[in-house]
Amino acid sequence: MSIAMRPLVERIVQTYGLPLDGCHGIAHWARVLDIGQRLADTTEADRDVVTLFALFHDACRENEGHDPEHGQRGAELAVELRGEYFELSDQQFSRLVQACQGHTCQRHHADITVQTCWDSDRLDLGRVGVYPNRYFLNTEVAKRDETIRWAHSRAAFMMIPEWLPERWGVPIPILAKS
Ligand SMILES: [Fe+2]
Ligand SMILES: [Fe+2]
Repeated sequence: MSIAMRPLVERIVQTYGLPLDGCHGIAHWARVLDIGQRLADTTEADRDVVTLFALFHDACRENEGHDPEHGQRGAELAVELRGEYFELSDQQFSRLVQACQGHTCQRHHADITVQTCWDSDRLDLGRVGVYPNRYFLNTEVAKRDETIRWAHSRAAFMMIPEWLPERWGVPIPILAKS
């Protein structure tokens, strides 16, 4: 895949309509990316799809609460930016679209990459005080105690991955809550 991460993040941030440091904002996207990559070590999910899911899945939220169409809108944004900001094969892109569309309303999926995407998002629920429920997880590795504990401790403390400022070009002061 070819993704220039900084221009893509910059573009997504430009039209993100909610506070960047909110509970669906950029630190959540970054933790979802870290979780997805960790899960992919075991699931062998497509890492490019997992990365792009982290960026797009909540990119078009219109509020921090009930917003059932935001997955569909995130998928539409990915359609718009494909080719200009990133390249994926048709098969990869179909998985990305299914992962974005379904993450709001579906629990389980047959494809391991889509499963890994959804688990990466659901393992970050600690940021809103919710401990991940295995029933809503798909992959065996995500359901392990050690995985849930690792992800939950980062989520509960709203951890900002240290690589974020440099790799995505967003300074920590913008993210750090006072
Ligand atoms: Fe979402
Ligand atoms: Fe999310």
